[in-house]
This record gives sequence, C-alpha cells and structure tokens, in this order.
Amino acid sequence: MAADKSKQVMFSGIQPSGIFTLGNYLGAVRNWSVMQSDFDSLFCLVDLHAITVRQDPATLRENIMRGFAVLMACGLDPERCTLFVQSHVPAHSQLSWLLGAYAQFGELSRMTQFKDKSQRYADNINAALFTYPVLMAADILLYQAELVPVGIDQKQHVELTRDIATRFNGIYGDTFTLPDVYFPKVGAKIMSLLDPTKKMSKSDDNPGSYVAVLDEPDVIIKKFRRAVTDSEARVRFSPDKPGVSNLMTIYAALTERDMAAIEAEFEGKGYGDFKQAVAEAVVETLRPVRRRFLDLMENPDYLLECCHKGAEKAAKKAEPTLKLVTERIGLIG
Ligand code: TYM
Repeated sequence: MAADKSKQVMFSGIQPSGIFTLGNYLGAVRNWSVMQSDFDSLFCLVDLHAITVRQDPATLRENIMRGFAVLMACGLDPERCTLFVQSHVPAHSQLSWLLGAYAQFGELSRMTQFKDKSQRYADNINAALFTYPVLMAADILLYQAELVPVGIDQKQHVELTRDIATRFNGIYGDTFTLPDVYFPKVGAKIMSLLDPTKKMSKSDDNPGSYVAVLDEPDVIIKKFRRAVTDSEARVRFSPDKPGVSNLMTIYAALTERDMAAIEAEFEGKGYGDFKQAVAEAVVETLRPVRRRFLDLMENPDYLLECCHKGAEKAAKKAEPTLKLVTERIGLIG
C-alpha cells in the first residue's frame, strides 16, 4: 500500500501486558479500528515500554504474539493500517536516545504514571521507567503524527511529547509536527468494576475489577453482577454515583445511546436488570473478537508474516525523520 500523502498521520500504541481490558478497548483500540482508513494510521505494540517492569521472557514472547492477534481480532487490518511491534523498528530506540537530550529531568519527574509505577514497583525504579515518556515521544514524532487517539491517562505523555517537539523545533527549526491528542466521546476513562474511583487497569491484582477482552461470556456476566453500585437502586448518571455512572458509560459506548435514554430505559427497574443488560452488550461486542482471536492463534506463521510486513512498512516511514533529526543535531552521515 503506497503512503497516502493526502491523509493525516495517526499514531497510537499499546503495551503487550498479557491482558487487554474493556478500558483499552473502549478508550483506544475500538476507535483505532473505526478510524484506521480515514488516516495514514500506525498502531504499535510497544514491547520496549513493557520491559520497564520486570517480564518473564517466555511470557513476554507469548504476550507479544497474543497482543498482536488481539489487535487484529479487534479489527485492525494490516492492509488498511501499519500494524507492527515497536522493537522491530530500531528507529524508535534511536530517536528516543536523541530526544532524551531534549527532555528535562524535572518534567519527567512530574509524570503521574512514573510516580504511580515507582510506588507500585518500588524495588525496581529503573532508568527506563523514568525515560518511558521519551520513548513514547519518539514513537509519535518519528512518523510526524498529527493525531494520537488514547484514553485520558495518556494525556500528560502526549503533552510532554508536544513540549519536547516544540523545544527541538525552537532550537533547530521546524522538524517535528506537533501532535494533537484525541479522546473518544464516551469511554476515555473506564473505571474499575470493584472500585469505581480507580481506573480499570490490567495490572490490578483483582481480575474481578476488569473485564478482559478475551474473557468468556459467563465470566463477563459474573464480573458485572459483582460490580460495585450504590444503595439508591436508581439508574442515574451523577458524580456521586461513580459505580452506576461507570456502567452507564460502558453501556453508552456500546449502544451509542445517551445518558438520558439509558436512564429512561431503566426507569423503575433494579440494578439487576441494568447490570444484566450492560453485561450482555459487552458479551455481544466481544464475542466476535474472541472468535477471531482464536482463529488467528491457529496460524502463527500468518501472524508473524503480518508482524514483519508491518515493521517493514513502518521502518520506511520512519527513515526520513530520523535522517532529518540526525542532520539537524550535527551528527555526520
Ligand atoms: P496502555 O498499554 O496502558 O493502554 C493502551 C491504551 O488504552 C487506554 N486505556 C484506557 N482507556 C480508557 N479507560 C481505561 N481504563 C483505560 N486503560 C487504558 C490508554 O489510554 C491507551 O490509549 N504509554 C502507552 C502506550 C504507548 C503509546 C505510545 C500511546 C506507547 N507509545 C504512543 C500513544 C502513542 C500505554 O502504556 O498504554
């Protein structure tokens, strides 16, 4: 597929951490799939970001293959987008090193994800965990991306990317496009089912707190049945009802109904009916994803071929920016 110069470039990434959650799906991957043909789209399984927390090699290898298959199962089509694994395109690490010289210790110290993760992995606060956002900036800037579709938790990192790009452009002249962040209208922050004041996260110790994209239907139904609500027994969207509001958000994202319509639909009904309806909407959305995933995993050679072709396409697109940056800095070719 030839690069289409008339289309804006869109880039996003996801870590191969074993489980993709409904949060990843609604906040990011589903929109990538919907938007992929409207842009010159690149989607990246960011394995180098994943090693900022300790990984078992065999499990990581498996998670990368499975992660790639899940992305394809969610609708990312290697013919319509560039889908690849980060470490297969060395330009990401190369640009990351260069950009490190234009990112300040102070600004990296302020990243909330770094603060959270250094609390969670207090025995392994490694340098790569600290410079994680620089690699993310490299991912985005390498392709001169104009749009970065992510969930709200990645907003700060995209802002930092813009700051690094602005600083670099200020020193050397226009080099990088400044990327804009894009959030879905509904679903940019899906909360934990058990503690709706916390983000739904795949690294949560309790699997009851998240729905995994590959969870079986009966597991999904059970998790929704146990989801935390409140004692009012009324389906109403309000900040003082975080559990119910989160379930409404999930339902709204899947059925494209607005909150008023959902409130009307469940007027006079209890939480049991409501939870069942939300769970069924999730099951029906994820059923074909799971089926496609299982089919794809039957054919690892095909998956690897897609991986490698995607990396080839990405590497070609990355080349001009890396060349330009090295020249601008004053390195010799
Ligand atoms: P990661 O792997 O944590 O998450 C992937 C995407 O899913 C979104 N997301 C959510 N959205 C709504 N509700 C939730 N509960 C939820 N949990 C996760 C995230 O916002 C993200 O969009 N650093 C990134 C990966 C990355 C990247 C990039 C993204 C690396 N390079 C360049 C964009 C551009 C991360 O760890 O995402």
